[in-house]
Amino acid sequence: MVHHREFFRQFRQQFETTGAIAPSSRFLAKAITGPLVQKQRQSENGAPLRVLEVGPGTGAFTKLIVRQLRPQDQFDLVEINDDFANLLELSFENDPHWNNVSEQSELHRCPLQDFDAAEPYDVIISGLPLNNFSPELVASIFDQFWRLLKPGGSLSYFEYMYIRSAKKKLAAKSERERLHQLDEIIKPFLKSQRFKRSWVFLNVPPAWVQHLTAPATATPSHG
Ligand SMILES: C[S@@+](CC[C@H](N)C(=O)[O-])C[C@H]1O[C@@H](n2cnc3c(N)ncnc32)[C@H](O)[C@@H]1O
Repeated sequence: MVHHREFFRQFRQQFETTGAIAPSSRFLAKAITGPLVQKQRQSENGAPLRVLEVGPGTGAFTKLIVRQLRPQDQFDLVEINDDFANLLELSFENDPHWNNVSEQSELHRCPLQDFDAAEPYDVIISGLPLNNFSPELVASIFDQFWRLLKPGGSLSYFEYMYIRSAKKKLAAKSERERLHQLDEIIKPFLKSQRFKRSWVFLNVPPAWVQHLTAPATATPSHG
């Protein structure tokens, strides 16, 4: 309940970056962490995986990720909002499942655009509300995703079903133009890199999870 209240407060105060009125459901969490579980099963001799969660918020996905991590995996989280980051820190201190993996986890308080990592990741799980952002920001975020992922690594993010197409019909001209530009940036990536789309009806609102594989070499940004 505390998490739902804090989420709603942040939604009202920081609409653009929070992008939702409530945390994601456990069904969405299960769908978005699917590639992590799959990569762990496939990893030869239990080779360690590097996992990055972007925009964890109050930890709707994190609480599943911390249960899935093996001792050899490394987990980084990048969160722009200090209030959310404070809540996440409390969970790492007080929740036994989170505390179990606190030594192998690191929370970074910064925008993804400013984040740098010593090594690339096998799995990126993103809760960023891309449909709220400017085309320039979305292009730079995808550049970051590809830069931070190993070739063959997986990127999973969610968006509310049909939201862009519905808004494109109803919104004012400048907003329609922005959404059209987002389509132009995102659709080529979906076309060339997507290996799966999960439909999650048990979420408010229902959502798609887009699962993409990193290109073998860097992909130039659009826009
Ligand atoms: C839609 S909420 C998702 C929260 C959580 N993953 C969930 O699904 O319930 C978006 C989250 O992304 C964070 N965020 C927004 N822009 C960000 C950025 N540029 N870098 C890092 N985090 C960001 C917000 O503060 C918020 O925690």
